[in-house]
Amino acid sequence: MEPAKTARALARVPLPVTHAAYRVQQATLHYPLRALQGVLRRLARQGGEADTAHIAQAQARYVALLKQEIDNVEAGHYGAELLFQLPMADYARGLPRLLSEMPALFKRYRAGDWRSLPEGVELSRYPAYYRRTFHWQRDGYLSRRSAELYDLGVELVFTGSGDVMRRQVIPPIAQALAGPCRGPACKILDVACGTGRTLLQLARTFPEHDLYGLDLSPYYLQVAREVLAEAPNVSLVAENAEAMPFRDQHFDVVTSTFLFHELPRAARRAVLREMFRVLRPGGTVVIEDSVQRSDAPELAFFLGRFPEELHEPFYADYLQDDLQTVMREVGFEVEGEAPAFMAKVVTGRRPSAET
Ligand SMILES: C[S@@+](CC[C@H](N)C(=O)[O-])C[C@H]1O[C@@H](n2cnc3c(N)ncnc32)[C@H](O)[C@@H]1O
Repeated sequence: MEPAKTARALARVPLPVTHAAYRVQQATLHYPLRALQGVLRRLARQGGEADTAHIAQAQARYVALLKQEIDNVEAGHYGAELLFQLPMADYARGLPRLLSEMPALFKRYRAGDWRSLPEGVELSRYPAYYRRTFHWQRDGYLSRRSAELYDLGVELVFTGSGDVMRRQVIPPIAQALAGPCRGPACKILDVACGTGRTLLQLARTFPEHDLYGLDLSPYYLQVAREVLAEAPNVSLVAENAEAMPFRDQHFDVVTSTFLFHELPRAARRAVLREMFRVLRPGGTVVIEDSVQRSDAPELAFFLGRFPEELHEPFYADYLQDDLQTVMREVGFEVEGEAPAFMAKVVTGRRPSAET
């Protein structure tokens, strides 16, 4: 159903019924995807099964995320229709295709082969750290096929909570947009927007503002253009976030979901410096990424096995490179941090008066 129709239908339904329907939807995703993950891990011969204590600790954070989601809707940060916007039919159609990738993916994993990238791509256009099969996925970020399977892959890894986690950037952005912006519409930039899932939800929540997405992969942006076809207020550009093609102080809000754990230390800083540069004084930065080691010692088991199983070579370093500290290093004032299951959302501000 179209989002506007879903919103009208939900307006006629009592809130507890909406919440119950949402919980049923998430359970319908969570338990089968968790079981499928278990099967795939055994087929891949990935060791280190989680024990019941580990699972219970992760589960508690998952339950807290769903509660947060309902609180966000009740607080009016976003509409209940966002809770029901996953393209389920597309994902159901995509699942056989994703599963057909698994034998080759397991082979890359076992051989440690992170170099097999598609022929015909001009690799010199991309930084060395990017030229790899992230997540062991075929072609890394460098093909249309990879882009088409990416969102479903994320939902498989996070048992149906990928978009739920992404939505957690909306409350601090809504709060920022309650204040004045530079122009008649506020300008919001999503750095490393990938296939546009975060932008889609921002576009539905803030149709009156101007949204921009930047990503290094032209293939992921092709899919983002389709995902965002109904959102006239979004512009996309294929560029490196370490050198963004935007004027100084151009944006009122800059955000990013799940980028920083994929960058080496120097690039992490370079991107944050760029985010600072393009944000206006007084503007808000909202970064979501994996929890780090000191945030969630109870998740240490899952954080430890993630980088090898999903080819994330910079993740171990990210875990100990405290995001808040790096944000302060480049000049941001950090205003808050909130957990979001396996992730966290850090909010900051570019100081209004700079010396
Ligand atoms: C894990 S994905 C996250 C994508 C999206 N934000 C999401 O929530 O799904 C990381 C994204 O970062 C992009 N990326 C990595 N390094 C980049 C860089 N230096 N500049 C711009 N984009 C980059 C990749 O192309 C990919 O789309």
